[in-house]
Amino acid sequence: MKVLVIGSGGREHALAWGLHRSGATVGILPGNAGTLREGVNFSGSWKDRASVQQVIEAFRPDLVVLGPEAPIAEGLVDWIRQTFRIPVFAPPQKTAFLEASKIQAKEFMARNGIPTASFETHTDLHSALKSVEQWPTWPVVIKADGLAGGKGVVIAPDKTTATQTLIDFMEKGKFGPASQRVVLETYLEGYEASVFVLIDSEYRYQVLGDAMDYKRLLDGDRGPNTGGMGAISPHPKLSHAERQQILDRVIRPTIEGLKKEWFPYSGVLYFGLMITDHGPYVLEYNIRFGDPEAQVLIPRLKGDFARLLYRYATASNGESEVQTDEHLHAVTVILASQGYPVQYETGKVIEGLEDLRDQPNVLIFHAGTSLQGQKVVTAGGRVLNVVGLGTTLSEARTHAYQAVQKIRFEGMTYRTDIAAF
Ligand code: AMP
Ligand code: GLY
Repeated sequence: MKVLVIGSGGREHALAWGLHRSGATVGILPGNAGTLREGVNFSGSWKDRASVQQVIEAFRPDLVVLGPEAPIAEGLVDWIRQTFRIPVFAPPQKTAFLEASKIQAKEFMARNGIPTASFETHTDLHSALKSVEQWPTWPVVIKADGLAGGKGVVIAPDKTTATQTLIDFMEKGKFGPASQRVVLETYLEGYEASVFVLIDSEYRYQVLGDAMDYKRLLDGDRGPNTGGMGAISPHPKLSHAERQQILDRVIRPTIEGLKKEWFPYSGVLYFGLMITDHGPYVLEYNIRFGDPEAQVLIPRLKGDFARLLYRYATASNGESEVQTDEHLHAVTVILASQGYPVQYETGKVIEGLEDLRDQPNVLIFHAGTSLQGQKVVTAGGRVLNVVGLGTTLSEARTHAYQAVQKIRFEGMTYRTDIAAF
């Protein structure tokens, strides 16, 4: 099977690795220095349809897998299916609202009885400010309606911050049209969990696994939010009973809601949850794998990953024989450039990768790297995802950090407390 992966980060390297491991011939558009080990990198960008067309016509994939949400929201899935009649692992544009519009996603949850924080939606600044004036419990959570690269949520501790945020979002257009409309919602207490579910166009589904991610830059969950500085799978805190509640109260009603309301799906649905004393609440849906959660989920799968994705992209019959290895733990530590997430330099030579190539229980997924001649150099804020595997969480953590010690580049920074409990 030939599979084309679209994207260039650590998630896409993990996807390409899983596909290559199951015997697929892999192409990546555009990929990075790490994905070169799993297949062929094609230059170009998904933003340019002519370059996508060129790659598809040259490579002739049997399946296309989309990594990030932006091309899904922009309609690339529908275009590929219609133009080339190739199966795509990702939902159509019609259902992209689950991630691309917080307002529509919250309204979907409300209509379908899916537990989520109570909320209001506002389309004009005046009414939003008036509501904040009388907000009953603080903090208030303010969410830009549209895609804002993970930066569209502000937890405002008081009226002054809330007012300023609303002005930035709605009047100053901080995220352009994406922040013209907002959701105001109740702050929930608990701990967060990410759950990943494969769904096909017949609404058959399979829970792939769960993960915990570390969004803050610094040890002890301090510092600014980032795209993710580490992740663990399985989630270390979820109990059997909580997993069952998530299935009964969140996953099933979501899939039934999609079916009832005629929203087609095929691909993976990512549930971002807050686990509270009153059970699980949905914070957000994402219509794709998490990054860096994919990097700890995919290595735990046993079976033919390419067939699995193909099956969910095409709704072909037959039980999937792919299962998550419940006895395998995975921990990833993100190696970032000094100054990330604000400002950082690139082009720093990375050393130590060769020695880790065939190390058991260690996988290196590249996030922001490129090749300069024979040398691998940094090319982004998040540079490498070092994954440790083990039969216990602490063993997986040890393997990850032992590998981190062997890698060097100028300005390399990382958290030292991933999976430390
Ligand atoms: P979202 O993009 O909706 O997942 O929000 C980003 C982050 O904001 C989440 O991962 C949570 O840490 C936090 N968050 C969002 N909504 C709430 C809420 N209602 N209560 C508490 N924290 C929240
Ligand atoms: N890890 C968070 C995300 O992928 O959105």
